[in-house]
Amino acid sequence: MCKKPYYITTPIYYPSTKLHIGNTYTTVAADAISRFKRLTGYDVMFLTGTDEHGQKIQTIAEEKGITPKEHVDEIVAGIKSLWDMMDISYDKFIRTTDDYHVKAVQKIFKKLYDQGDIYKSSYEGSYCTPCESFWTETQLVNGNCPDCGRPVHEAKEEAYFFKMSKYADRLIKYIEDHPDFIQPESRKNEMLNNFLRPGLQDLCVSRTSFNWGVPVTFDTDHVVYVWIDALSNYITALGYGSDNDELYKKFWPANVHLIGKDILRFHTIYWPIMLMALDLPLPKQVFGHGWLLVDGGKMSKSKGNVVDPVALVEGFGVDAVRYYLLKEIPFGSDGLFNNEIFIKKINSDLCNDLGNLLSRTVAMVEKYFDGVLPAPLGKEEVDDELINLALETPKIVENAIEDLKIPDALEAIFTLIRRANKYIDETTPWILAKDETKKDRLGTVLYNLAEALRFSSVLLSAFLPRTSEKINEQLAVTAKDWASLEGFDGTAPGTTVKKGEALFPRIDVDKKLEELEALRLAQLEEVKKKEAAEAKVEMEPIKEEITIEDFEKIDLRVVKVVECEPIKKAKKLLKLKVDLGGEIRQVVSGIAMHYKPEDLVGKYVVLVANLKPVKLRGELSQGMIIAASDSNDTILNLVNPGKLPTGSIVR
Ligand code: ME8
Ligand code: MG
Repeated sequence: MCKKPYYITTPIYYPSTKLHIGNTYTTVAADAISRFKRLTGYDVMFLTGTDEHGQKIQTIAEEKGITPKEHVDEIVAGIKSLWDMMDISYDKFIRTTDDYHVKAVQKIFKKLYDQGDIYKSSYEGSYCTPCESFWTETQLVNGNCPDCGRPVHEAKEEAYFFKMSKYADRLIKYIEDHPDFIQPESRKNEMLNNFLRPGLQDLCVSRTSFNWGVPVTFDTDHVVYVWIDALSNYITALGYGSDNDELYKKFWPANVHLIGKDILRFHTIYWPIMLMALDLPLPKQVFGHGWLLVDGGKMSKSKGNVVDPVALVEGFGVDAVRYYLLKEIPFGSDGLFNNEIFIKKINSDLCNDLGNLLSRTVAMVEKYFDGVLPAPLGKEEVDDELINLALETPKIVENAIEDLKIPDALEAIFTLIRRANKYIDETTPWILAKDETKKDRLGTVLYNLAEALRFSSVLLSAFLPRTSEKINEQLAVTAKDWASLEGFDGTAPGTTVKKGEALFPRIDVDKKLEELEALRLAQLEEVKKKEAAEAKVEMEPIKEEITIEDFEKIDLRVVKVVECEPIKKAKKLLKLKVDLGGEIRQVVSGIAMHYKPEDLVGKYVVLVANLKPVKLRGELSQGMIIAASDSNDTILNLVNPGKLPTGSIVR
């Protein structure tokens, strides 16, 4: 039988910054859905990738002194290894710099131009020359560039435009006729009322001010600007516009584009209109999930509260992170990432409910039956409740995933897990074990527990694939497919179980929270230092002109630090002994916030040797050591003359 195709996509990510837990969220969700669809018999195409063109990338690469391609190659490698770490089972990874994509985008652009949907005009607005960006009146901050704060001027740039308005009525009708097209429901009304009904402006689709983009074939001063390039990925990845469009024919239209709410407008207005213009079918659904927030709101670098998925996976394991994202964030609305809730959920759901169910079951089979699972002989009423719930759960999970309600799917699986734990309390196997005549009953109870765990494991394989494998290993599960969930008999009696490590070791909440807080503070410190280093401070005015003779009055010498110690009750000051060509001098210097005494001994620095001595905090200071610092002394570096004979003159 031919399997039904299922096509799901994530956004293609900008390779501009390190991905955080919020970006990871979309991809983990898409992965769970993909795995579940594969489990239930679909032929799945799961697409993700990177959106690599644009001014920003070009600028960063120029600053680094490498080509934009070299720059993105490096970041894309990091993104791929993050997806490996998160067990993301994508079927294809598209890069907008891939040759086939570039060619297909060029074809699309040309076709839209030839049929009159794209036309040449000019872009007018307030232009910031240093940032090479146009801004609208409302984007300006106090009339200045919102990025750099410098003044803007009116300017005109030649550009191509897409006639969006031409298709607006058709799109409104389409959205009204297809209630599932934009999900969740609330976002649909926002799109209709805030954007479509008030009237669409034509979209600027080319630029001439930078060249890191797909060149417009018939007008090579222009590169395709952002959205035509980015959105097309969903069809070019399938070979649309190439010699081989077999995958396109099989998988398009997509079942769902999974995206964050910030890019919903592009996916539910520009993209459908592009497809209409190309005379192609629209995706069946665009699902805009909510925002992943942290305590204090949005994650932002400057607040130092950006949650790094790599650190979490290293600290807690990939399935703990996947579990939190999939179960605790209500799919569709905003959710919170909170360390304490995260750790407590691991302990309660994964360690207690799931982990203990497995370890108790395996331990009892080992203890009472030498590790060999007995056959179930007969049934009691209390068994039915567990068995019936197990048999109903696959359908509940399937329906939840059909509606993209991932937390509900996991809730159903954990309801079964908790029911199985309750079944242990109800049947009290340790009491049965004391009575030789109850041996058959004990065997039945343990069989039912193993089988309930097998159901849980098969269902969990979509969400927590590694955990599912570990359960399968300990219980020697062989029936792992969807069809095996039709009967409560997929575990073969006589199977030998094998005790393994705890699935999720119990976490000391307070200790871990402290560690995470320390990590956060260290991260914040890093950010502050980096920002201070990069900050463009208002330059202090240059002082009054002096002559060379004036300068020569200052006697600057290379000295070597021979001793150094803090000064009591003066936390900014250090007392140094420096060697000035045989003569030892004492100098007091306000550098204690930046240097430790032990780091300074042996260093060569520059001394103003003829400065009139003073006493600072009761200590004699014979000269001054030269340092460079930013305006508020966040960063301070001692001037390093290199290793020279002490007493050498600096001029
Ligand atoms: O937008 N919580 O790429 P991107 C949840 N290249 N999701 C978040 C988030 C958060 N805190 N922060 C970001 C782009 N995201 C374009 C897409 S598609 C043809 C082009 C989500 O790297 C965001 O909503 O800026 C988006 O879905 C995804 O991360 C990638 O964002
Ligand atoms: Mg974005």
